[in-house]
Amino acid sequence: MPELRSNYLGLALKNPLVASSSPITGKLDGARQLEDAGAAAIIMPSLFEEVIIAEHERLDRFLDEQSLGHGEADSFRPIPHGFRSSEETYLERLEALKSALDIPVIASLNGTTSGGWLSHALALQEAGADALELNVYYIASNPRDTAQSVEQRYIDMAEALLGQLSIPVAVKLSEQFTAPLNLVQRLEQTGVAGVSLFNRFYQPDIDLESLEVIPRLNLSSPAEALLRIRWVAMLYGHTRCDIGVTGGFHKAADSIKALLAGASAVQLCSVLLEQGCDALRVMLDEMQRWLEDNEYESVSQLKGSVSEQHAPNPAAYARANYIEVLENYEMPGSVLS
Ligand SMILES: Cc1cc2nc3c(=O)[nH]c(=O)nc-3n(C[C@H](O)[C@H](O)[C@H](O)COP(=O)(O)O)c2cc1C
Repeated sequence: MPELRSNYLGLALKNPLVASSSPITGKLDGARQLEDAGAAAIIMPSLFEEVIIAEHERLDRFLDEQSLGHGEADSFRPIPHGFRSSEETYLERLEALKSALDIPVIASLNGTTSGGWLSHALALQEAGADALELNVYYIASNPRDTAQSVEQRYIDMAEALLGQLSIPVAVKLSEQFTAPLNLVQRLEQTGVAGVSLFNRFYQPDIDLESLEVIPRLNLSSPAEALLRIRWVAMLYGHTRCDIGVTGGFHKAADSIKALLAGASAVQLCSVLLEQGCDALRVMLDEMQRWLEDNEYESVSQLKGSVSEQHAPNPAAYARANYIEVLENYEMPGSVLS
């Protein structure tokens, strides 16, 4: 039987399939089902910067109002009875997941600034998180944003985390970078252990009747995997960071391609939401069978073997084949009358 083990963020994974942040990984029974189906690790849904900050502001307002009537001391500001912050709830969930599962549990922070909210990461580490994924969901909507300032945001946030944590940190990157390889190398210098390619931005839609902007969450399609596979292939060998992929991985075949390109972990979300946790079991079986049929002894044997640096035709990943691909396109006969 081929050996499926992989290493991601210094974690020894029993195979490369990881359940990425989703409503399933935040629930104890969901996480158990994922572990039973063979998931090698889970990444919890994120703790969000906006939620933490809004909660702090609300609590401060409440406490200020409370303290107004207390003559004895301005500092006497009782916390409302039964109040549970989202951080406390998150930590409880993390602890419950850690005691219920044998596989690594990766916590997730999601935000856009390197402010004080990042100090919550330490509590996640103390609650037993095996690693932390940072999702910087930043949309450069301000004309003053430059490519450099957006990249610097990622670096600053990574540095703020690395300065306080001893567990490994991964950064979930957006696909919208001009020079992703350079950015990953700079992240590596901060001490980041891995990157996850690529975050999916959810695209708002316009309702043609009401003319309102409607937030839309469409699950991914397998066609999205190729973009990730290409960038993994280009990145592999240029960084010591482990590379995870996320976005469009619904099939064993695409997961194998990501490994061939150089990924250490393939993260799954949409496929699990669409087909249930058993989809992971099916993908693992198919992966195992493919390795056997193609006489690979292990996942590590194939990892990176079709990266840009090792592919027989590396130019295919870059511009070189562009003209050829366009010229070889066969237009359907029905297009022109
Ligand atoms: C309903 C839903 C909730 C998600 N929640 C989070 C989250 O809390 N944090 C995060 O980093 N990504 C979150 N994601 C993104 C996924 O983890 C994943 O990166 C993305 O969906 C692409 O992978 P996929 O094609 O397998 O779905 C969420 C995705 C969905 C569909």
